[in-house]
Amino acid sequence: MPLSVCIRVPDNDKNIVAIRGAPPHVRRKNRERTVRYRLIRPQSGNGIKACTLVRDRYRIIRLCRSRLGLLHVRKKPLTLWGEKSRFMKRSVGPQTLLYPHPDLIVGTYDRDGRPNVMAAAWGGICCSRPPAVAVSLQKSRYTYANLMEQRAFTISIPSADYVREADFFGIASGKDVDKFAATGLTPVKSKLVNAPYVEEFPVVLECRLLRTVEIGVHTQFIGEILDVKVNESVLGEDGKPDVAKIRPFAYDSMRMEYYGFGEVLAKAFSAGREFRR
Ligand SMILES: Cc1cc2nc3c(=O)[nH]c(=O)nc-3n(C[C@H](O)[C@H](O)[C@H](O)COP(=O)(O)O)c2cc1C
Repeated sequence: MPLSVCIRVPDNDKNIVAIRGAPPHVRRKNRERTVRYRLIRPQSGNGIKACTLVRDRYRIIRLCRSRLGLLHVRKKPLTLWGEKSRFMKRSVGPQTLLYPHPDLIVGTYDRDGRPNVMAAAWGGICCSRPPAVAVSLQKSRYTYANLMEQRAFTISIPSADYVREADFFGIASGKDVDKFAATGLTPVKSKLVNAPYVEEFPVVLECRLLRTVEIGVHTQFIGEILDVKVNESVLGEDGKPDVAKIRPFAYDSMRMEYYGFGEVLAKAFSAGREFRR
């Protein structure tokens, strides 16, 4: 059975971090705060630990059972966890949080053949063979109906020079406005699929719709990547696309900001070798 416990903490105790992963419900009583916790698995005997964050310092409170079968609090002196406190986690709820979110510009034609583009951050590569990419769209998007009808789309990756245009693609709808005309960017018909891409953006994926997956408020569109076209100007000396020249950017859905890419940190499939036994 779930069990509730009240912990009285002084008014200056700000944020209750966690008690065995259960969210605290906080209410004020007199000049103290009473924090009501729900223990998922009540422990018998001493030794249940709760942590409160007091101006960046962590305090450990020990809870123990009283003779009446209730739980009460015995406060211990302030304890600093030093290094370990850096890894203390706080729940921020079930959010659509992942780093980094891409900023994918999905290109489609409407039923009258008008080109449209929209920004999609809920997406990414989802299969290697066949090469495939998935984007999740809400039904209200103009692009949603276009994609259902045409069963083809492109994904253009904007460079940092076009962050304002890319943002506009995510705040205006093709129902109301011609986004290419508004930004002065150029729609180009893909050679392989019936969908337009943005000429000025350095990387373009041409995709045919493989399947859709109903998830909830979003429908996931999975597309097979039939070809990728890259501006010659962003190829490195080795002939491969050079991310430093492409200058893509990422989206932070929590702060609603765009971030540039940083420097190379390490070689993939090799930096971790030192841990191999
Ligand atoms: C950075 C950013 C990311 C977005 N990601 C998505 C997404 O993944 N899925 C979605 O349905 N809408 C997303 N949107 C909202 C659409 O881009 C927006 O509603 C757009 O106006 C739809 O265009 P359309 O109606 O012409 O298709 C995003 C908007 C921004 C600014």
